[in-house]
Amino acid sequence: MQLAHRELTGRTMIRLGAVVILLMAMGYFSYRAIRSRSEWESPVASATEASPAPPFSYTGSGSCSSTACHGGVTARTANRVPQNEFSTWVLKDKHARAYTVLLDKRAVQIARNMGIDRAERSRRCLGCHALNVAPELQTRSFAIADGVGCESCHGPAEGWLSEHTRKDWSHEASVKRGMHDLRDLVSRAEKCSSCHLGDAENEVDHQLIAAGHPDLFFELDTFTALMPAHWEEESWKNASERDPWFATRAWATSQAVSLRDFMRLVAGRSQDQSWPEFSHYECNACHHDLTMPSWRQIRGYTGFAGRPNWNPSRYLVLRHMVRLISPEEAIALDREIAGVGELLVNSASDQASIAVAARLVADRADRLASMLAHAPVDQQVTLALIRSISADGHELARGGLRSVEQAAMTLESLYDNYARAVKGTNQQAIKDAIRSLFDDLEKPRSFEPSRLADRIQQVGRLLG
Ligand code: HEC
Ligand code: HEC
Ligand code: HEC
Ligand code: HEC
Repeated sequence: MQLAHRELTGRTMIRLGAVVILLMAMGYFSYRAIRSRSEWESPVASATEASPAPPFSYTGSGSCSSTACHGGVTARTANRVPQNEFSTWVLKDKHARAYTVLLDKRAVQIARNMGIDRAERSRRCLGCHALNVAPELQTRSFAIADGVGCESCHGPAEGWLSEHTRKDWSHEASVKRGMHDLRDLVSRAEKCSSCHLGDAENEVDHQLIAAGHPDLFFELDTFTALMPAHWEEESWKNASERDPWFATRAWATSQAVSLRDFMRLVAGRSQDQSWPEFSHYECNACHHDLTMPSWRQIRGYTGFAGRPNWNPSRYLVLRHMVRLISPEEAIALDREIAGVGELLVNSASDQASIAVAARLVADRADRLASMLAHAPVDQQVTLALIRSISADGHELARGGLRSVEQAAMTLESLYDNYARAVKGTNQQAIKDAIRSLFDDLEKPRSFEPSRLADRIQQVGRLLG
């Protein structure tokens, strides 16, 4: 079966001139059409009681859209902020259409398979596809049809909207008044991860995937590159103070946040009646053709033959970074991961023990995320990472398709960053080798670990 139905196989595919312009036009008109229906059905679900209501209200993306604010057609140069952020979002960014996709045929089918009446009214969907906040936190300009809008990422604007343009106002002052601090890499990564991986309130589990939802995967630097940029990284600093290795740090931080959030999902779900949750296991362990001869039988099993492995993709690349930065942390992490892994593959495991073990890893990953967000990264670290991840091809391929996918995104992100700073001789050959990994991931049915391991290792060989 087709697991990796990725429209998203690389950064370059997204930059398609004519198609993008057409989409921009379509996006704009559908946005207009929806906004003009002013008495749009008010959102049904309010925020769950479990989540404490933030004290500030949400004003809607429309409140940022005036041409004097963030709705300029072209980038301005008078200020540090180009002020065309709204136009970029509404015309090019898929987030602006996140709500409208809930009206599509595919969403209707998912909803039917989930026993949901209407996707666009269900809190099961709105939590990630729109700004699903309690009615008392919505001002008059709020519109659910904005989908994933400015305040989905930047936080409720009421507390800073009129102040944040003042000369004597700072980013820190906005953060104190409810703005989400996206300059901080941990809080940025966890914001994206809350929708792109899921959290206690919003989850894409195996039931939703089986119903037809795309399986979620995430890596911050790759997804940042895929998102039509409406900002320049660290633009508040002087050009000379900006970190040229920002992307490596963003990658590392996001890996630790992903591991933390994944382990939190495991800890939560393991307490559930519906455990085991299949989406926490390696998809291909169950979804593959039975062929003879079988590479699985030839390769052999590390544990109990015929049990699905858990999905270690958020750990297998991260551990290379942890080893470089702190060997003691790496040893402790390896030990705790081995503990939770063993519990997950043993079907007789006690559910409470799984939760304890998963929380232990989540707590360590949380500390690692803060550490990695400020870790010293440079050209040497970036190169050392590419080399050690590439040399680890066999272990990564053993982890399964998801792990190879993380390795591919990682190698592309790190190498792009490296190649920007250092001119090597066979840059194109290395980029092609990474691309061939993505091509291979497009064909999950013919998944063959030794071939993928070799492709991963090829990157290191070409580096010399
Ligand atoms: C945990 C967050 C989350 C929840 C809950 C969620 N989604 Fe999604 N959905 C996403 C993300 C993220 C994507 C984009 C996946 C990607 O491209 O990587 C997506 C993509 C989709 C797509 C494909 C859109 C396209 O452009 O092709 C559809 C359709 C969809 N979701 C419908 C639903 C429906 C219906 C529900 C409720 C039953 C739902 N989603 C619940 C996060 C979520
Ligand atoms: C999917 C998440 C997301 C959405 C949606 C989003 N942003 Fe952003 N935005 C970011 C990230 C990440 C940054 C970079 C971090 C930073 O500079 O604060 C950023 C940066 C910015 C900046 C630059 C801030 C600075 O100090 O340099 C502005 C201005 C901005 N966004 C405005 C908007 C507006 C207006 C909208 C809605 C039309 C919007 N954003 C929607 C994620 C998002
Ligand atoms: C409130 C939930 C939410 C948050 C927060 C969020 N996203 Fe998304 N994102 C979505 C949904 C839903 C989609 C799918 C929209 C669609 O397909 O129409 C999506 C789509 C995307 C896509 C397009 C993927 C594709 O298939 O082409 C990228 C890239 C992306 N998000 C990056 C980010 C980044 C980077 C952040 C953090 C700065 C972020 N997102 C934060 C919900 C979210
Ligand atoms: C422990 C075994 C197991 C694991 C692991 C597993 N699945 Fe499934 N999956 C199943 C079973 C059993 C069904 C139901 C098949 C049926 O209805 O015939 C199913 C159904 C599905 C379906 C719908 C049926 C179809 O043919 O379209 C999809 C899609 C799917 N799984 C995707 C995934 C993805 C993606 C992952 C990894 C994130 C995954 N599965 C992990 C066992 C598993």
